[in-house]
Amino acid sequence: MVYYPCYKNLDAYIDVDRLVALDGFMTDRLSQRVAKAADRAFYTGPFLLDAQAPTLPGSQMVYLSRSREPDNYYDLDQTNLWEPTPDAAEFAPLMAIIATLPFAATGRMIIMYDGSGRAVSAHRDHDSAELCHEFIWFRTNLRKPFYMLDPETGERCTVGSHAAWFDTVNQFHGADASGGLSFSIRVDGVFSDEFRRNIPFPPTGRAAAPAIWAQADAAVATS
Ligand SMILES: [Fe+2]
Repeated sequence: MVYYPCYKNLDAYIDVDRLVALDGFMTDRLSQRVAKAADRAFYTGPFLLDAQAPTLPGSQMVYLSRSREPDNYYDLDQTNLWEPTPDAAEFAPLMAIIATLPFAATGRMIIMYDGSGRAVSAHRDHDSAELCHEFIWFRTNLRKPFYMLDPETGERCTVGSHAAWFDTVNQFHGADASGGLSFSIRVDGVFSDEFRRNIPFPPTGRAAAPAIWAQADAAVATS
């Protein structure tokens, strides 16, 4: 039995102080991009909690890497396809932090941002229960009200950490409006063997791995 909503707090695996120290830089650069309004719109995908909610909620993306193949969501962890974009150079200090994350190789790397902090419709990223994307979601400040939602009960939990990995299939995730610039970063790839050794991958239903890991932590904390 896996309990939702939940997320795996990854702050122990990331240099949070270094991340927080980058907040001014990120805020400055992203504010400039808001003014230019030239980045691609963020698309939630088709798996919305509320079918009437917008799939293009208004946020935008900076692609720090780009696939050599036509756009395909299922390529995001095909690390051989992705190469850095010119924007990666603009965000060089962020790329330096990404280089310290526990990946053997990286694939898609994006910054998701919204100058006016609009809500992001609750959605699942895909519906393949056996497909577990290895990614780290992280941020330099805690202003984006990002949450997980259990479809069975409607219960929500707000992410309180700087870095997280979460089940994107068996629960929904989204953001409430913040009223000001909000942003987060997501790096997909292949975790390092050392990092993987921490993860209780299940024999089936692999997409639940981050939830099972989060639950194992909760069990230790309460025992
Ligand atoms: Fe998503």
